[in-house]
Amino acid sequence: MHDFKYKNSELYAEGVPVREIAEKVGTPVYIYSHNTLLRHLNAYKDAFDGQPHIICFALKANSNPAVLRTLAKNGSGADVVSGGELYLALKAGIPAKKIVYAGVGKTDNEIAQALKAGILMFNVESSDEMAAINRVAGSLKVKAPIALRVNPDIDPKTHPYISTGLKESKFGIPIEKALENYRLAKKLPNLEVVGIHKHIGSQITTLQPFVDALKKVIKLINTLRDEGIEIKNIDIGGGLGIPYNDEHPPHPKDLSKAIQPLLKDIGLNIILEPGRSIAGNAGIFVTKVLYKKKHPKKEFVIVDGGMNDLLRPSLYSAFHNVLPLKKNSRKKTRYDIVGPICESGDFLAKERELNSLSQGEMIAVMSTGAYGFTMSSNYNSRPRVAEVMVKGGKFYTVREREKYRDLVRGTKVPDFLK
Ligand code: LLP
Repeated sequence: MHDFKYKNSELYAEGVPVREIAEKVGTPVYIYSHNTLLRHLNAYKDAFDGQPHIICFALKANSNPAVLRTLAKNGSGADVVSGGELYLALKAGIPAKKIVYAGVGKTDNEIAQALKAGILMFNVESSDEMAAINRVAGSLKVKAPIALRVNPDIDPKTHPYISTGLKESKFGIPIEKALENYRLAKKLPNLEVVGIHKHIGSQITTLQPFVDALKKVIKLINTLRDEGIEIKNIDIGGGLGIPYNDEHPPHPKDLSKAIQPLLKDIGLNIILEPGRSIAGNAGIFVTKVLYKKKHPKKEFVIVDGGMNDLLRPSLYSAFHNVLPLKKNSRKKTRYDIVGPICESGDFLAKERELNSLSQGEMIAVMSTGAYGFTMSSNYNSRPRVAEVMVKGGKFYTVREREKYRDLVRGTKVPDFLK
């Protein structure tokens, strides 16, 4: 569900015509709906109401400060994977005690930063990392709260690039090695074992992989208990899919219902790390048609937004629906919608039947609120785009479009070149 709907053939973001925003702020631009973000967060809150839990929004999906502030003000915690994300989460007012920190390559500096902030727990991905956290905590004379990220070897049946819980994946500690790593953690003087973590992948559209993975994790928790290793938090990761096209992913309520029988007697604080299912359908990417051209086998629409602004189609062949800002009844044409980047892989949509588009017309690339702006870059020396948040009948620029001078920020030409 989202708040980007047609009224009288014109696409609106909540109560504002998208065209109005694009004309004022320019294109390309990301537009987020405050209402959708909140509704999605509340869906999780309601689904897990009545049992101890924390919703830790995965910042990698969208780390715009206004988005984070929206979620923070409504009780969200954060799942972070870098010092930068930790900084942004804290700056948005997310309490450190609601922050979990995953990622396979945490540096000493990042570990120290998180320890000083007093985060809820590190989701540790290897024994080397465990040793590093123990060492850094020792030097700061604190105890580091840790969970082990276990890899349950479950196929989430999603795109291979976003599957993380398989044996061949770089993430987590293989579940059969978890016990020995927990024993090791128990022995390290500056660590406090407080939890267990798993995340098996992203854009998962069925419940079974969640259930299967959780069963394995609970078996492990029972083994740990038998060994006298008691934990407080079970972090079940993120990964719930969203409808991009004709998928029917489960609702957070369905997820809750499916895993409830497994969790109800376990007496642990449940942590969830949704990213896409909160932000994905809360955002659109608006871009303008610059040119059209017909090749013998293809008809192209060249727009002002490219793979540097929205990478998902190029990187994962991801499908994003494309809608005109104004509905019309022009004849249907099959287009490849491509960007201005000098790469054949630069496309936003392929073989898409649309009412024919004209130069200067604007289109919305839907479901781009997650992994849209956060994966954007300056490739081809293109300033990164603006971001806008809509609330009711008003809109706010929540990130200015970069300027050319931003392209040289921090760079230096050595004296010998002057
Ligand atoms: N927790 C951990 C440890 C993760 O690695 C991820 C995503 C999440 C939570 C959030 O997952 P979500 O609820 O958003 O599925 N760039 C890719 C997605 C990469 C996801 C990486 N990890 C894409 O655009 O599809």
